[in-house]
Amino acid sequence: MPAYANRVKNMKDTALYMRGLFGGMTNPDIISFGGGAPAPQALPADIIQSIACEVLASDNRGREALQYSSTFGLKDLRQAIVSELLAPAGVTADIDNVLIVTGGLETMNLLCQVYIDPGDVILIESPAFIHCIDIFNMFEARSIPCQCDDIGLVMEDVEAKIKQYRPKMIYTVPTFHNPTGKTLTAQRRKRLAELGSEYDVIILEDDPYRDIRYSGEALPTIKSFDKTGHTVMANSFSKMFSPGSRLGYAVAEKDLILLLMDAKIATNSHSSSLDQVLCAEFFKRGYYQEHHKKICDLYRQRRDIMLECIEKFFPQGTKYTRPDGGFYIWVKLPDGLDSEKLLVEAEKQNISYLAGKSWFVGEENVGSNTMRLNFANAKEENIRYGIETLGKLFAEKRK
Ligand SMILES: Cc1ncc(COP(=O)(O)O)c(C=O)c1O
Repeated sequence: MPAYANRVKNMKDTALYMRGLFGGMTNPDIISFGGGAPAPQALPADIIQSIACEVLASDNRGREALQYSSTFGLKDLRQAIVSELLAPAGVTADIDNVLIVTGGLETMNLLCQVYIDPGDVILIESPAFIHCIDIFNMFEARSIPCQCDDIGLVMEDVEAKIKQYRPKMIYTVPTFHNPTGKTLTAQRRKRLAELGSEYDVIILEDDPYRDIRYSGEALPTIKSFDKTGHTVMANSFSKMFSPGSRLGYAVAEKDLILLLMDAKIATNSHSSSLDQVLCAEFFKRGYYQEHHKKICDLYRQRRDIMLECIEKFFPQGTKYTRPDGGFYIWVKLPDGLDSEKLLVEAEKQNISYLAGKSWFVGEENVGSNTMRLNFANAKEENIRYGIETLGKLFAEKRK
């Protein structure tokens, strides 16, 4: 057989890891704190059922839903994004600044197609969202981690690494970070936008959790501080609407949107028309506000229960984040406990979580006692049972 392309070798480790992650996510017999899935109860099945029946019964909208459509994406969906999601976040944009993509991750893919040549450097967080690193590996980029503290990326280190590595891009999840749940302060967001402009670096602001906030004040986006067009926003409908719809959106300057669109034409022509029509109608018919409140109430309660149970059952010396939103709590067990080894034991009791070590990309000997817990997906009684069981397991192994 002919040799595989270089990118296959380059993405081998992360690709293997991602296979395992997706494989375990849909097993109904496991109490899963591991994947990034929303709660089944948070998926608006009844609303979508009624919209779908009406839409498909209507000649024009029904055909639009089943026909080829524009690569930009449906006009009324882009309009809903501009008025209901971007304007409240302080982002001035019109529909020509918005491209509909297939899953939030497609923005990273298209942006790499437009900007990244083999060997280009992308600065990332420590730890970083590994699915994106898998994409960066596919494009044969070098991902270089930057220092993070309790409020995310440390700007002094980012600036030092910009000078040292001359990166093309800086990738960040500024709000309710995956995997740590941390949120970058407004001051640092402003500085990051400035660094992008000063050093001519693309800031890739991946913000799929921004609108899922349970407490605290909303923060301005990095994009809202961008005066030169260096910041590109990636967002997703996976967490607030439906991950199965595979819908997301990119926000950028118009000339860059056109290039991203060219890359998208060469990739998949356009995102699913049917899913876009359903999502657009979900907004146009006014379902979003009530649904948003419903899921935030559900997830707030689950977050609080998980925090309470971690406090009660995890061994003394455990440290953990207290996110104001999103899906994840990041846990640092006392030294000496290895979260990868403990996961094998936990899975024997049908409980899973995500061991943190592999998410420290390009760093040796860090994170062996860390884990990410998704509090959004499991039912309240399963959170109580699952965290108590994990707590007992960890305490036992600590002896
Ligand atoms: C940080 C981050 N970015 C992007 C995504 C993209 O999600 P999707 O491609 O499912 O829309 C996710 C999903 O978990 C995420 O956590």
